Amino acid sequence: MKKYSRITGTGSFLPPRRMSNSDMVDALQARGVETSDEWIVDRTGIRARHFVDDGVFSSDLGVEACKRALESAGRTAKEIDLIIVATSTPDMVFPSTACILQNKLGANGGAAFDVQAVCSGFIYALTIADAMIRTGAAQRALVVGAEVFSRILDFDDRTTCVLFGDGAGAVVLEASSTPGILSSDLHADGKHVDILCVPGHVAGGAILGDPLLKMDGQAVFKLAVGVLEEAALAVLDKAHRTAADIDWMIPHQANIRIIQSTARKLKVPMAKVVVTVDQHGNTSAASIPLALDTAVRSGKVKLGQTLLLEGVGGGFTWGAVLLNL
Ligand code: ACO
Repeated sequence: MKKYSRITGTGSFLPPRRMSNSDMVDALQARGVETSDEWIVDRTGIRARHFVDDGVFSSDLGVEACKRALESAGRTAKEIDLIIVATSTPDMVFPSTACILQNKLGANGGAAFDVQAVCSGFIYALTIADAMIRTGAAQRALVVGAEVFSRILDFDDRTTCVLFGDGAGAVVLEASSTPGILSSDLHADGKHVDILCVPGHVAGGAILGDPLLKMDGQAVFKLAVGVLEEAALAVLDKAHRTAADIDWMIPHQANIRIIQSTARKLKVPMAKVVVTVDQHGNTSAASIPLALDTAVRSGKVKLGQTLLLEGVGGGFTWGAVLLNL
């Protein structure tokens, strides 16, 4: 019997501290940084984001998302034999956030590791978990995106600090005799490292370089629109489907203009696109599972539907997954 993997539960978690654009305007004004609700909404579609308080880490957000995903799958932590956490804001240099999360969840014993592909991280992690389940290396996985981007934002740089937020999303992915994940497509091009990066590192007990996010927004924008279309067409082609077969497109939530432009190129109407960037901002690797769970819980996305997930981020990395829920 051919083995596939299938999502059996979703969960997400946002830290309670919500920062509306007007909260951001006030906080930034106090530092002498000028921005406005009009500029942020017009250029990005973002109206609010959530930030963690001191002492809260990616693993804390991830654990809450995992508990909700397990509950919706009707599974317990003890039944999980693989945890993959996609994050660019790990709790520590090492061990992995996945190991820390595994222990907090009480899922000890199975494999656990992090994936670093910035905003494409969840697409990478889901593809790896699917491959491990199909080869029999794992039976039941938690695939998590968890980020505390507020820790790496430069609040004196108005071109980046208004864009990002914190949060986590997770899915339970299980072995199944029917598909589930239909196809995936991953890519990276390391020549674009400089257009989106946090160029600091730890050495000799100090931080060397700059540990805050740097982005050439226009370069990222242009690349993102092109590669998202390519990845979407690749997964459709691999699964012998067309854009007309998609019930919902759930793209990385970075900027409403990138989302609209990708949907237009693929001829997917915006009525079939899940949008949460207005309320969450860009939560990097967490954005796709957060959007998925939000759409499932609101009743929009239903069992049996065909979903196109796609992500793009620093590296440059990009990819897509086509699946039946
Ligand atoms: N408030 C007010 N004005 C601002 C702000 C702000 N927060 N930020 C920039 N501006 C000003 C600039 O200084 C500039 O002023 P000037 O013309 O006087 O120099 C003006 O607005 C226009 O700036 P641009 O950079 O040209 O604005 P643009 O329309 O390109 O929008 C943005 C910038 C939103 C960053 C856009 O380029 C973008 O969304 N890029 C993609 C970003 C992205 O998706 N990143 C994440 C992808 S991967 C990942 O998620 C990690």
